[in-house]
Amino acid sequence: VSKLKDDLDELPPIPEDLGAPENGSRGLNVSRRGFIRGLGTGLAGTAIAGAGALADEREAEAQGAVPAAPRGPGRMGPDPVRMTLNINGRDQAVEVEPRVTLASVLRNRLDLTGTKVVCDRGSCGACTVHIDGKSVYSCMMLAADAVGKKITTIEGLAKGDDLHPVQEAFMRHDALMCGYCTPGFIMASSAYLKNKAPARPTREQVQAGISGNLCRCGTYHGIIEAVQAAAPKVKGA
Ligand code: FES
Ligand code: FES
Repeated sequence: VSKLKDDLDELPPIPEDLGAPENGSRGLNVSRRGFIRGLGTGLAGTAIAGAGALADEREAEAQGAVPAAPRGPGRMGPDPVRMTLNINGRDQAVEVEPRVTLASVLRNRLDLTGTKVVCDRGSCGACTVHIDGKSVYSCMMLAADAVGKKITTIEGLAKGDDLHPVQEAFMRHDALMCGYCTPGFIMASSAYLKNKAPARPTREQVQAGISGNLCRCGTYHGIIEAVQAAAPKVKGA
């Protein structure tokens, strides 16, 4: 018991931004707008991870050091290699093994936890990001294959405080419940509208356009409405 007490005493203090819930919501004090931008999800991930390895990695990054790849007896495969990824307009140097997926690097090495991993095998779309403006499942792409390409994640979709029209529409049309699929849907929808959709897509066209994404909460009605609502703005029509 005393060992357990000592361990508890050593836990980091609870951050102040994990205070009382707002608006009757449970859990983290994160605004709906912040959540949709992907920032809320990042904050949550950071808070849950606590101090530990993440803080060390942040400090190393702040000092200009490259996040180091995990080493040790459990590691398998070829040695880590250094690479530079252009993410949300910024070059980021990482050192990872060639087998590591882009989703893993984004979430586990660069703390861009707005990108979700659900199936980790290319069937749900939760991990969707843009590569050179096109939708890609980041769980199915090696980080090494993303070198030299422009990677955009949900954290980079808004322009400063201005949400992307699809993000705004998801808020207005209540297109989420648990929100876990939401970043992937927003990335898939924004790429669909920009690249393929007509100015006023029908319900069926939107369904087909974002058919690679799944929502376990069944919020498809709101999602399709939101994408239709955002279309004229994205297409400038
Ligand atoms: S997590 Fe990548 S497709 Fe499901
Ligand atoms: S809102 Fe919960 S999985 Fe889509």
